[in-house]
Amino acid sequence: MLLNKNIILGVTGGIAAYKAAHLTRLFVKKGAHVKIIMTPLAKEFITPLTLATLSKNPILVDFYNPENGDWNSHVDLGLWADAMVVAPATANTMAKMAHGVADNLLLTTYLSARCPVFLAPAMDLDMYRHPATVQNMSKLQSFGNFLIEPETGELASGLVGKGRMAEPEAIVAYLENYFNAHQDFSGKKVLITAGPTHEMIDPVRFIGNNSSGKMGYALAEELANRGAVVTLVSGPVAIETQHPNIQLIPVVSAKQMLEACQQVFQKQDAALMVAAVADYTPAQAEGQKIKKKTENLTLELVPTPDIAATLGIQKKDMQVLVGFALESDQEMAHATEKLHKKNFDFIVLNSLNDAGSGFQTDTNKITLITRNGQIKPFELKLKTQVAKDIADELFQTIQQKNT
Ligand code: CTP
Repeated sequence: MLLNKNIILGVTGGIAAYKAAHLTRLFVKKGAHVKIIMTPLAKEFITPLTLATLSKNPILVDFYNPENGDWNSHVDLGLWADAMVVAPATANTMAKMAHGVADNLLLTTYLSARCPVFLAPAMDLDMYRHPATVQNMSKLQSFGNFLIEPETGELASGLVGKGRMAEPEAIVAYLENYFNAHQDFSGKKVLITAGPTHEMIDPVRFIGNNSSGKMGYALAEELANRGAVVTLVSGPVAIETQHPNIQLIPVVSAKQMLEACQQVFQKQDAALMVAAVADYTPAQAEGQKIKKKTENLTLELVPTPDIAATLGIQKKDMQVLVGFALESDQEMAHATEKLHKKNFDFIVLNSLNDAGSGFQTDTNKITLITRNGQIKPFELKLKTQVAKDIADELFQTIQQKNT
């Protein structure tokens, strides 16, 4: 459940901070990406070096990193995260969170986070049952934050009572249960095409394009994380996926991509045509490497099969087909034309005129155009975040078609 999840672990200044090391190790073992923010006092309880080594990421404490001149953007961190876990959460930090105090990086990130927030309190029993703490915790829960109850037992003070931070295993199990319950694509089958196609000219040369596959792979992982069984038909790319819910079918040419899609399409609830398929292929691929000659070389090219249009013809009423369009001029008009021509349910438009959009980038700025003419523009976001927006629209469209 935690594979490829982006987790911010907030560590505050209490004795239970030593447990953050074990918690980090467990998250990493589950395949999560962990970024750790420590409050200044937390550094007195556990060294940043330990946590940096275990999380494989630099530790964030200050707003500004004087060593490399970087600004640690709490907004970017908040948007990056799928979950924020504060463990241990001291009475002091929870009090500040409950009142919107923003005097350290952990608190500003908390205020910026759009993801679910989990708090694992740890303190002495009297602090834990003090009305101020009780009120703050209930206020935080009323904001939608999750409280992972502390355990009862011997405390650092020597007193016995409630206030011992939940064990790291219990915190991991809590998050796994949370994500398990948020499986809106559970039971759904989704086909995704991704990357470029390579059309072979001879055994060593091909016609291709710059598509990195990042958008298609991000969508595959997002949907797989939300419970879908994903078939990812991918052209040649440099990225990988290890997700157990993703079946990868590597292909090279447009013809192979079409064949792979047709084998599985009938059984799918939805298909997302993210691949940048070459429009032309050599009429004939030479069996041997073409030798250099002095005269000009002319290649005869023939059109490739249109995979999306073919599936658009075969599509059953319940199936959802989604297209992608990367346009450089008259973007809306061209994308809308493709939406209808290829029988898509909605199309995802990127404009080459938007900085940060398109091939090879980690970000994308999209506009969704639906069949009934709705136009939904989004801001520039990481491709992993864009994948969430597209998945949400896909979920709604599947629901509409199936009710
Ligand atoms: N597509 C496809 N097979 C093709 C070409 C395109 O499946 N042979 C899909 C793409 O994956 C995308 C959509 O069709 O979802 C639109 O792709 P695009 O290349 O913009 O469309 P074309 O019809 O090739 O138009 P253009 O002349 O703009 O290249």
